Amino acid sequence: MKRLGILTAGGDTPALNATIHGAVTRANQLKVEIFGLIKGFNCLFNPRVPHVHLNPLYQEIPELDPTKGGTLIGSSRDFVDPEKKDDLDLVASRLKQLGIEGLICIGGDGTLNGLQPLAERLPVVLAPKTIDNDLGLNYPSEPDEWVRVNDPTAKSGQRYKRAASSAVFDLDHIVNYATPGYATAVFVSAQGVDRIRTTAESHRRIAIIEVMGRHSGYIALGTAYGRPDIILIPEHPLDLEHLVQRVKHLYDLQKNVVIVCGEGIVDEQGRELGAETKTTDPSGNIVLSGAAEALRTKLIQMIGDKYFQLYRRGDSAKEAIFTRKVGHTQRGGRPILFDRFYAAQLGAEAVNLLVEGRNNAVSVLQYSTARGFHVEGYDANRFRDRWGLIHARSMHPALYDPKLMKPSRLGMDYLMPIFTDAIGNDDAEHMRQTLFAPGNLAQPYHSINTDVHKRIRYMQEVA
Ligand code: F6P
Repeated sequence: MKRLGILTAGGDTPALNATIHGAVTRANQLKVEIFGLIKGFNCLFNPRVPHVHLNPLYQEIPELDPTKGGTLIGSSRDFVDPEKKDDLDLVASRLKQLGIEGLICIGGDGTLNGLQPLAERLPVVLAPKTIDNDLGLNYPSEPDEWVRVNDPTAKSGQRYKRAASSAVFDLDHIVNYATPGYATAVFVSAQGVDRIRTTAESHRRIAIIEVMGRHSGYIALGTAYGRPDIILIPEHPLDLEHLVQRVKHLYDLQKNVVIVCGEGIVDEQGRELGAETKTTDPSGNIVLSGAAEALRTKLIQMIGDKYFQLYRRGDSAKEAIFTRKVGHTQRGGRPILFDRFYAAQLGAEAVNLLVEGRNNAVSVLQYSTARGFHVEGYDANRFRDRWGLIHARSMHPALYDPKLMKPSRLGMDYLMPIFTDAIGNDDAEHMRQTLFAPGNLAQPYHSINTDVHKRIRYMQEVA
């Protein structure tokens, strides 16, 4: 292969530039050109196909900085609808016209779902990314456990449900152990938890901190490093009575409580607390806003003002219980070492897969006690259920202790290989040197977009 295309699709993560950097470095070694496609699939719906040559003369352009968060080629939630054959043909013909012989999509489960029809038109591979850490399998046979049941309330009249599992869960058998972006999101969120604690302590308050992750509790689980008292994850329906009991016990003891909740937490009926008003993004994902607020309302009702007045710790429950969202800060900024290092390897592996003639494949990050972390190629089809659908990975229930509302022993074993050495010395030093640099006050921010814009080239439209 002489020329590859690369694009970043879906919500950004801090490690996208690192993945692109890994891909470009490998391509330089193999003397392969890489064109960055601007704003994900959006670029391919544009007849002018805006793109940037990332390695002219097999040298990376200086704007490609693996330590910088976001993506220099931009991202969007546009996606290729597998039903729209004409759109797919158009996308393939535009890539061909650009001389692109293989495509690397840096994306999550949504992007992987769209890979198959595209892979029938040209070689395509996926390099994974998502802060939600929901791209992967708890064990290789997991896709076979999905069954389809009739549901008149569902749009299609059917919904997917998990049948009982016969597999033994073992950390060594996880497919794609962790996804670039996840470690940095946990780093930011755990720091947030740590910081909220002292203010909750000082003012005798109950803090509810909401983290992202959609329907997956991995980010919430990882915030255990910030030592919250309680972690609530979407995979375990909320037991309000148990929660209130635990909150009161902790509040009596220490006069403050810090609760972390994943944005996708559900009540005992399986209803999402944060999606009481349902909206969806362009790819059809439910937009979750306000799980922490909904939980606060419930705690205010159930604990009541008197409880706080009795101890002279506030006039009302409303005053004592507050919420904060970590929000998009967990998706931005410099990626920590773990993310940078493995994102780059996954990007390089994606190039290897295409050059070796693999199509419809994914570069995955595997872990085993014996070998540690290593990257491999994995056929995308093995992520698909019987009907060809890819489901977001749920956190395995064995990683969580619902009684303590914290990671289980196995959950801790899962987290430690990722996080023990996740922060590099250079990460700490970078903060020390750059945050309060005097130049920050005098000089305006210089956006990467300004420089990359000068490099964007357009394709001639074919009549
Ligand atoms: O999938 C990544 C993610 O950050 C989710 O955790 C979150 O629900 C969603 O994207 C937010 O999307 P947006 O940036 O479009 O608001």
